[in-house]
Amino acid sequence: MNTRIMDLFDIQVPIQCGGMLWLGIPELAAAISNAGAMGNLTSGNYNTGDEFRAAIDKTRELTDNPFIVNITTMPSIRLPVELLQEFFKVSCERKVKALEIAGAPVDSFLGPEYIPMAKEAGVKVLHKVGTVKHAVHAQKVGYDAVTIAGFEEGGFPHKDNVSTMVLVPRVVESVDIPVMAAGGMVDGKTLAAALVLGADGMMMATRFLATQDCRVHPNIHQVLIDRTEGDTALGLKKLLGSFGLQVRALRNDIVRRIEEIEERDGDFTELFPLISGERARQVWQDGNAEEALLTVGQSVGRIRDIPTVAELIDRIVSEAEEALRDSLNRVTR
Ligand SMILES: Cc1cc2nc3c(=O)[nH]c(=O)nc-3n(C[C@H](O)[C@H](O)[C@H](O)COP(=O)(O)O)c2cc1C
Repeated sequence: MNTRIMDLFDIQVPIQCGGMLWLGIPELAAAISNAGAMGNLTSGNYNTGDEFRAAIDKTRELTDNPFIVNITTMPSIRLPVELLQEFFKVSCERKVKALEIAGAPVDSFLGPEYIPMAKEAGVKVLHKVGTVKHAVHAQKVGYDAVTIAGFEEGGFPHKDNVSTMVLVPRVVESVDIPVMAAGGMVDGKTLAAALVLGADGMMMATRFLATQDCRVHPNIHQVLIDRTEGDTALGLKKLLGSFGLQVRALRNDIVRRIEEIEERDGDFTELFPLISGERARQVWQDGNAEEALLTVGQSVGRIRDIPTVAELIDRIVSEAEEALRDSLNRVTR
């Protein structure tokens, strides 16, 4: 297998992990990079530039392979713009291989000098987007690649509710830079499908959450095996709608409480204690999956086991090759 994203990122397989708050830490990022894919160090886990710098250094102790840093450019009380700017500068200073920007474009949110700063440092910049329009903008302002995420994805899909199946070919025909497909990506069949749709690789997160290298409570892993594709919900449409977003999370008690508040037009301040990142951080560790907003994609319905990252990547590559061969045989018979 050889695609443009593999050359751009200097990786051996066209698979990237998406940013995962609290979970995209050095150990998981390194396990993914050591397997030849692109691990993700999520900057939002850290409270200062120094903490983040130490996390980059720790990841480098655990792997010699490239990894990507996620910077989520969304309004946040815990992560003010100045801190996000510092994360970007530290990434350039430490010359990480690539940055995954998720949310508002760097040029408008952090400032016009940031993409040139990355280019000067030799850091590749990818923008994760949810619409064709945003992908075209990313190419125009100098991003090196885009990830297009359909509304199947866990986390913060665009409010337009367009699926990966439609968005990937639309973006592929609209930009010349490499395109990663995300949302519903989970195995070799989805990698093969992404490549057939014209993408250069796939990005996934829920599937990496369901690996032994992602050290959440065993109950969480069991929940991921047990739940089906119908067990996620879209929410926070009022709170996030003005940013063009919504959240996709596991359907649970907290999601039902959020739905109830939004339906009766309750005050946003009622929502904040339910959606706090701290609450999710606690639940990943103590395993009570009803007690926090747990961002999980529809791909949860296709998770049946908890392999190591190395086993998962090996399996995906051989399955993708087989799926491509097999589908060709079936149609040419
Ligand atoms: C547990 C978890 C935490 C996430 N946290 C973030 C985050 O901090 N920033 C971000 O840009 N996306 C975040 N996402 C979204 C993913 O990066 C990715 O876009 C999405 O999960 C891909 O869809 P999939 O889960 O179906 O693979 C998160 C997803 C999960 C599952």
